[in-house]
Amino acid sequence: MSRLEQVRETLNKYGQPHLLRHWEELSESALEKLLTQIEEIDFPLVARLIKNRDHQHSVEPGGADDRAARAEAPEQMVRLPQTDADWQRKKEAAKAGEQLLRDGKVGAILVAGGQGSRLGFDAPKGLFPIGPVSERTLFQILCEQLLARSQAVGVEIPYFIMTSEATHLPTVAFFEQYKYFGLGEENVYFFQQASLPAVEYSSGRILLESKDRVATSPDGHGGILRALEKNGMIGVMKDRGIEHLFYHQVDNPTVTVCDPALLGYHLREDSDLTTVAVAKTGSEEKMGVLATVDGRTEIIEYSDLSPEQAARTQDNGTLVFWAGNTAVHVFRREFFESLLSDDLSLPFHIAHKKVPYLDDSGTVQTPESPNANKFEQFVFDALPHAKVALVVEENRDQMFNPVKNAEGNDSPATCRAALAQQARQMVESAGGTIAEGITVEVSALLWSAPQELASLVSGQVFEEDTVVG
Ligand code: UTP
Repeated sequence: MSRLEQVRETLNKYGQPHLLRHWEELSESALEKLLTQIEEIDFPLVARLIKNRDHQHSVEPGGADDRAARAEAPEQMVRLPQTDADWQRKKEAAKAGEQLLRDGKVGAILVAGGQGSRLGFDAPKGLFPIGPVSERTLFQILCEQLLARSQAVGVEIPYFIMTSEATHLPTVAFFEQYKYFGLGEENVYFFQQASLPAVEYSSGRILLESKDRVATSPDGHGGILRALEKNGMIGVMKDRGIEHLFYHQVDNPTVTVCDPALLGYHLREDSDLTTVAVAKTGSEEKMGVLATVDGRTEIIEYSDLSPEQAARTQDNGTLVFWAGNTAVHVFRREFFESLLSDDLSLPFHIAHKKVPYLDDSGTVQTPESPNANKFEQFVFDALPHAKVALVVEENRDQMFNPVKNAEGNDSPATCRAALAQQARQMVESAGGTIAEGITVEVSALLWSAPQELASLVSGQVFEEDTVVG
């Protein structure tokens, strides 16, 4: 049987023969490409998702609202330090975390496979210029943080970077162009997550984007489990003696990469999965929240909370759902392994999206309302499976300034303002002065090196926009 016939047979079996409707019009290479893309689709999985899509999100009888009603504020938790004793504990945690880094037991995972559709940037989000003066990219700032941390502890910390079909090639090319930002090619591991097709809501048909391409999107940050395994990353981690992974997202440059205190708390509690929370601005803020449900730590999505539930308060008057998820985690490597060996499949979440598609006559249609389902897994759904899960509260202004939207909240403007504000604080505490209305940017290489920064700025008055370092 020819390759074409084999693919056709599969498509017939799964009720998707229209994906080859235009094959006769394609060049040989375009047909090759289309066949390869179709061969990579996990049809049994997609068939299950299509069959179950109306039930995917009801977690249990009674649904999400019932779960929210049983939820309490997170219990296993380290709050922001208030007392001298808290500060002392944080100092001790930082010391333990530093030792873990020095022992070479920590790697960093960056998830950079998303489509960044809200930002509307025409390249992988990591290439977005965010430095308020230098326009350094998100990738550069994160890599330089990691480089500085590596230099401080005298160990090359490996960087595991998840890409997707959409972001892989331009991401790798960018790192090559910038010589891996000094991290060393041998310390940067790219691994690609899988894609899943978009499915027309009304018919259950997989959509074509063009005559030679199926409409697909990455399978969510929860796709990391399969992607780590498929690309041999767990083996690399083991070979390098990596026991804990600092996980973060590409859109938040103000995260403290491989934060020693966070690693120390994680170690002290013998945690499988530690996650950073920040206080929500109010009950209406659209942010997933950490909570304890039936004794387990979970993240409840904003869309799963009714306004009444979101506003529910504790005895002391504060919100039950105050702990916003920052998507900064520390995973024990063995926890990844146990999730994989139990073949534990994270649930799929269904999004209703407007997906442009090729109709049967070969014309591209741009729908005005959501017409299709996309399927995604979320990494935080691993939380309830952790034997020990810990939540650590962090200062929001300091560490959570994501670039999600083109304008308004969580946008380049708010993130640049935060970077500038943090630089002002750093420069002023290092003995420099910044004139009113002037923006100074401090290289991420200096963020955790106050003495080096002081040697550059102490006694200086900045009267024009400047990049330090
Ligand atoms: P978001 O959930 O903010 O999605 O991703 P996004 O794709 O970046 O942006 P929108 O929703 O299309 O506007 C949070 C983080 O998870 C990564 C993103 O790259 C980002 O770092 N991510 C998301 C993946 O790596 N893969 C995915 O499939 C989805």
